[in-house]
Amino acid sequence: MTSWLADWANLLLRWAHFVAGIAWIGSSFYFIWLDRALTKPEHAKPGVEGDLWMVHSGGFYQVEKRRPGPGEVPAVLHWFKWEAMLTWITGIALLILVFYLGSAYLLDPNVSRISRGAAIAVGIGLIVLGWPIYDGLWRSPLARRPPIAAAVSLGLLTAVTVLVCRLFSGRAAFMHVGALLGTIMVANVWERILPAQRQMLDATRAGRPADFTLGERAKQRSVHNSYMTFPLLLIMLSNHFPATYASPLNWLVLLLLGVAGAFVRHAMIGRGRSARWALLPAALTLFGAMFFSTPKGAAARIRTATDSVPSFAAVRSVIAQRCQPCHSQYQSDRTFGPAPGGVTFDTPESVARMAERIRVRAIETKTMPLANKTGITDAERDVLARWIAAGAPLR
Ligand code: HEC
Repeated sequence: MTSWLADWANLLLRWAHFVAGIAWIGSSFYFIWLDRALTKPEHAKPGVEGDLWMVHSGGFYQVEKRRPGPGEVPAVLHWFKWEAMLTWITGIALLILVFYLGSAYLLDPNVSRISRGAAIAVGIGLIVLGWPIYDGLWRSPLARRPPIAAAVSLGLLTAVTVLVCRLFSGRAAFMHVGALLGTIMVANVWERILPAQRQMLDATRAGRPADFTLGERAKQRSVHNSYMTFPLLLIMLSNHFPATYASPLNWLVLLLLGVAGAFVRHAMIGRGRSARWALLPAALTLFGAMFFSTPKGAAARIRTATDSVPSFAAVRSVIAQRCQPCHSQYQSDRTFGPAPGGVTFDTPESVARMAERIRVRAIETKTMPLANKTGITDAERDVLARWIAAGAPLR
């Protein structure tokens, strides 16, 4: 019953998180595009920086970008802020539900022996302290030299990534880096971008000329946010791909993928051809990530062991003992509901059919059994490895 409810809470939060995130990132993509597509109006109009025409879903739209003059306050002004806040609220709720309330995904005894309480304290601490540290850095005198401030920020992010990858299960580590980035992005919107916009509006309303440098400063945070977008989206997807989060060098894989995403973003935002150079380092870091996620150890083990093929009976006994407590219609461990991941091993054919995934999860990435709850040994993993290397025969 409780797992049924937790599952539904998980699904509904994920759904809301996904939809709010699309609305947030989608509108931010749209405005970046809008800024670039604006052209100077044919007949110069006071305060108008650029305009454009669009056609969408059957309607024609004309948009002007302008600086309101003193006293000029639009009757209705649309703000974009709740998308970001909702994405954050649902994301943090998911983090708590999956990693702090659920017992399965936060820790991995193969990574560290830290206690649950300590791990949760570290996780919450990171999310709470990340923003003041980042914000303080970018308000300090160092921020006048953006390359140095950016290098310091990246250094800190690397340190955090290595730390969480040493303490948490790979999956939880990636998600905590994501929660940290997401929190910084939402705080940028609510604490820096919106207040600057509000101050400019207040000045206009009071009939004073608005200080548009406030807008410039808010723009810097908005640029930061745009660089964090792709890495953050990748982290959301990563928990379907154990090769990324469970690689022994998972911290490096994550950083390289993050940098690749940021370079792609640079190529997208930058003006015209001049920013296309960024696609080369993006490709290189991406290949780097792919390279460092390859399971070298597993390949070596398989090569030395092809001579003796274990019988299917031996394989089945390992599966029955170590996997079927969860992956069976007659499961004894119901923590994850019926057929976790959609997989049961009740017939010989179902085991053989899943051979490739068994290799990935139980041999290469060692992400199954989950947190090694059923205590599989290396010798037993080896039995599975040799059987699969021999083509998973049902004899
Ligand atoms: C304690 C419960 C538990 C045990 C024991 C367990 N699993 Fe899983 N398994 C899960 C859960 C939960 C999921 C879904 C989440 C995920 O994919 O990480 C899953 C998903 C899977 C998937 C489907 C996802 C994919 O990547 O294709 C495979 C295959 C799998 N497990 C193989 C195994 C094997 C092989 C064993 C035994 C060596 C095993 N599991 C033992 C809980 C368990």
